[in-house]
Amino acid sequence: MDTGARRTMPVVGAAYSPFLFWDGRKDSLWAQALGPLEDPAEHGGTRLAFALQLKTRYRPDYEAIFGAMPDLSGLPEEASPLGTPLQRAAWRSMTEKEQEEVSKVFANMGKALAAYQRTLQPGESRLDQYIEGVVTHNVQAYGLLNATEKNGLRIFLGKGQCITCHNGPLLTDHHFHNTGIAPRIPGQPDLGRRVGIAKVRGDEFNCLGRFSDARPEQCEELNFLARDDHAMTSAFKTPGLRNVALRAPYMHAGQITSLADVVRHYSQAPRTDGHSEIKPATLTESEMQDLVAFLGTLSAIVENEPQRE
Ligand code: HEC
Repeated sequence: MDTGARRTMPVVGAAYSPFLFWDGRKDSLWAQALGPLEDPAEHGGTRLAFALQLKTRYRPDYEAIFGAMPDLSGLPEEASPLGTPLQRAAWRSMTEKEQEEVSKVFANMGKALAAYQRTLQPGESRLDQYIEGVVTHNVQAYGLLNATEKNGLRIFLGKGQCITCHNGPLLTDHHFHNTGIAPRIPGQPDLGRRVGIAKVRGDEFNCLGRFSDARPEQCEELNFLARDDHAMTSAFKTPGLRNVALRAPYMHAGQITSLADVVRHYSQAPRTDGHSEIKPATLTESEMQDLVAFLGTLSAIVENEPQRE
């Protein structure tokens, strides 16, 4: 397999994102799941090959949920409207009805994957327990964060202004911002959301598309999408911060290696070629350390697994 241009986003809690991927080029969990399957840098498969595999291996399970499998006999082994010239030519050789049937099986595969991904919920963190304690006036819980971490929390909410974008249960506003992160390859800017908007609008698997189960009026996010917003140039989705200390490197292409350097970036807000929404937070060394310590309280508490005999 090949190397992609972006870092993998966490799947835990992804069920709550109105837009998926760093540039939001997909608008549902099921449509997202289809992307990597046909991406040459990831699974590199074709939708026809996936449909044939499903028919061979999972037909009863498939039919119990989605109804009868179409008759896929007599079709080539590999075909997709994306993919290599040969795979695209094979796709064009199929009738419109066959194409439609294969795309539908493929879309249903995404819906099954999405159903599983919905079960991946974030685990409780020390911050969750602390907040619960404060809200219920449980004095014993006040000690769950030490003085350094509490000061980090104060900076997160106040001087650092992190809460402006990293808010809500997952610590993300689910929006897109340019925070002045330099492109992975100097001189080759990644336009991020600006391209993502065009892609999601043109996606045959989007909320308004023929494979969607949503009614058009349920597709508000897509219906009200600003189409030509310059602020979206090189803007990326605000990542949620749960478990952030466990998943270096950071940013859309892993440009920053440690949380200490992420926090330094926000403190200095270096000037970039383009527009950045970040103003320097101008934190002292000890404030930066406190903020990093606070970010460590967002990790899920892992219970000790019972010893196996
Ligand atoms: C204007 C909105 C905004 C503000 C304010 C903001 N962030 Fe972010 N944050 C983002 C976006 C967008 C990204 C992803 C940027 C990218 O990859 O280009 C990000 C990425 C991060 C990451 C990397 C997470 C990962 O998985 O890669 C961390 C950690 C982080 N921010 C912490 C903070 C802290 C701490 C503050 C306050 C000092 C802060 N952020 C303020 C929007 C914001």
